[in-house]
Amino acid sequence: MYSGPARAVDDLANTRNRSGAPDLLSLSRWCIAVDYLGRVMSKAGALDLATGVGGKIEKDDVLSAVQKYEQYHGYYGGEEKERKANYTDMVNKYYDLVTSFYEYGWGESFHFAPREHCLHEHFLALQLGLKAGQKVLDVGCGIGGPLREIAQFSMTSVTGLNNNEYQIARGQVLNRNTGLDKTCSFVKADFMKMPFPDNSFDAIYAIEATCHAPDPVGCYKEIYRVLKPGQCFAAYEWCMTNAFDIRNKEHQKIKAEIELGNGLPDVRATGQCLDALKQAGFEVIWDKDLAADSPIPWYLPLDKSHFSLSSFRLTAVGRFVTRNMVMALEYTGLAPKGSQRVQAFLEKAAEGLVEGARKEIFTPMYFFLARKPHLDRQ
Ligand SMILES: C[S@@+](CC[C@H](N)C(=O)[O-])C[C@H]1O[C@@H](n2cnc3c(N)ncnc32)[C@H](O)[C@@H]1O
Repeated sequence: MYSGPARAVDDLANTRNRSGAPDLLSLSRWCIAVDYLGRVMSKAGALDLATGVGGKIEKDDVLSAVQKYEQYHGYYGGEEKERKANYTDMVNKYYDLVTSFYEYGWGESFHFAPREHCLHEHFLALQLGLKAGQKVLDVGCGIGGPLREIAQFSMTSVTGLNNNEYQIARGQVLNRNTGLDKTCSFVKADFMKMPFPDNSFDAIYAIEATCHAPDPVGCYKEIYRVLKPGQCFAAYEWCMTNAFDIRNKEHQKIKAEIELGNGLPDVRATGQCLDALKQAGFEVIWDKDLAADSPIPWYLPLDKSHFSLSSFRLTAVGRFVTRNMVMALEYTGLAPKGSQRVQAFLEKAAEGLVEGARKEIFTPMYFFLARKPHLDRQ
C-alpha cells in the first residue's frame, strides 16, 4: 500500500476523459507532478540531514570539530598560513560537517548554476569534446552529481577523485542506485598528490573544487601530469575579480565570510589562476568569468529577496524553516550538538557570497579550457 505524493501521481495518471482516453490536461498535470516528485525525492530529507551532520566525525565530537574548524578562519582570528599548512584537516572537517546540509539544500550537484545544474555540466562536457568510451577524471567530485550527469550525457567512464571519505561513501551508494557503478568509480586521494600514472586520462574537469587547493600551481601540475598530451582540462574556479580591493575593509570582510562558509584557505584572483595554469605548462584555449554577463544571476537561489519553489530550501523562508528544524533536531538529540553552528556558518557564507556578487568582487564561475601540449611541442 502507498499514499501521499506517489498515490497522487498515480491518481492523476489514471484520470481518463469521458471517451476513456487519458485527457491532455491530466496528462500534463501528471508530467508536472512526476517532475516535481522527482525533484523533491532526489533531495535528502530532514532526517538524512540530521543523521548526516558530522559525516565521519563521531557524533559526540561534532561540536569541538565545529570550534576547531571556525578557528582556522580569519573571521575568528585564524590565519591563511595555518589554513594552507593544514588544508587537509580544514577542508575535510568542513565537508564532514556540511555535506548533509548541501545535499538537503542543493541535491546531488554541489555547485552554482544560473539555470539547471545539468546545463552547466553538459556545457563542460561539450567544451571538452567528450567522446563515448573516453576515460575522464572529475577532480574534487563531491558525491558525484556532475559525474553521473556527465558520464550519462557523454557515454564516458568517469573517475571521481575526492579526499573526503564520507562523500565517497554517499557517491558510491548513488552510483549503485543509477547503475553507474559499472562504468564509473571513486578514488579517495588528495588532488595535490594523485595516485595515477602519468598520461592516464583523455579529459579532466574540476567544478568549484580546486579552489580548496593550498597552491594552484601544484594542483594544476598534478592535473597536467595525469592528463594525456594533446588533451584538455576545463574548470569552474571560485575567484576574486579585478574589482576586489585588498585595502577595502568591507571587501576583506566579504572574502573572510566566503572562506569561512566554504572551507577555503584563500580566494585567489582570476589572474592568479590563469598564471598558475600557464606555469603548470597548459596552453589556455579560452577563459572568461561566465558570471559577468549571465542574464540570470548565479546567486539568485541565495538572494533573500528571491522566492522559488524549486529551490525553496535555499530561499530566506526555506532557510528560516531549516534553522528552526535544525534547532529542534539538535534539541531532541536527533542531530548532534554543533549542528546549529554549522547552519550558522553556512548562512554567513550565503551572506558573503551574495554581497560579493552584488559588489562584483567575487565569482564562482571563472571558466577556462586549457590543453596539455603534445610532447614534441613541450
Ligand atoms: C564544492 S565541492 C564540489 C563538488 C563537485 N565538483 C560538485 O560540483 O558537485 C568541492 C569538492 O572538492 C573536494 N576536495 C577539496 N579538497 C580536495 C583535495 N585536496 N583533494 C581531493 N578533493 C578535494 C571536496 O571534498 C568536495 O568534494
